Amino acid sequence: MSAELSPIDKAKFAAAKRAVQYVEDGMRVGLGTGSTAAWMVRCLGEMVREEGLQIKGVPTSTRTADLARQMGIEVVTLDEAKWLDVTIDGADEFDGQLNLIKGGGGALLQEKIVATASDMMVVIADAAKEVAQLGAFPLPVEVVPFGWQTTRALIEETLVGMDVLGRTTTLRLNGQKPFLTDENNYIVDLHLNRIGDPRQLALVLNQIPGVVENGLFIDICDVVVIGQGDGRVEVR
Ligand code: 5RP
Repeated sequence: MSAELSPIDKAKFAAAKRAVQYVEDGMRVGLGTGSTAAWMVRCLGEMVREEGLQIKGVPTSTRTADLARQMGIEVVTLDEAKWLDVTIDGADEFDGQLNLIKGGGGALLQEKIVATASDMMVVIADAAKEVAQLGAFPLPVEVVPFGWQTTRALIEETLVGMDVLGRTTTLRLNGQKPFLTDENNYIVDLHLNRIGDPRQLALVLNQIPGVVENGLFIDICDVVVIGQGDGRVEVR
């Protein structure tokens, strides 16, 4: 399948193919969102259809739910599954402590809920996602639409006291309109360039009224499977 792929897709596919080895018959599996996670859903679908693997999948977005159903994976809600054996998801950045920035695809809230309700979180990523320090990728923060400009101003005020390099924020758009998450919230992207203390920032952001969740995943990821453009894979 990987012969005609671009190097980046080859890397994503290789990571996904390796990561599905964590999935065993009968497991309840969190299904991440994004282009890398989509490869994982396709790989799992192949195992379901061709090897008779029986799993229950809990998707982290409507996009992933649609793809999982198309692939023949049984989809259940998190409340039906109650707890998950493993979640496999992509990331926008990961550092040496396996802390992450997620939410580039706008699904950070469901992704964090699902990953936290799992015995194990496996992240799949191409090598370009590895960073010495988080923050080059804009940090997504999900906010409720009510009073979002006030919430954004409070976020900017809060950033003044934080160990970050940039402090501009932008409302994520879908065309001319605000991008809407699956929960009908907005996303404010924080352009920080470097986050000195991700743990502190994650805690402080979530204390601001109107903030629903932020895209920093601290101490949630257990393993990162890194794919290379030539199809090689490294597990950390
Ligand atoms: C979606 C996410 C994705 O996992 C993240 O954006 C990585 O996506 P991709 O695999 O397409 O690079 O957090 O909310």
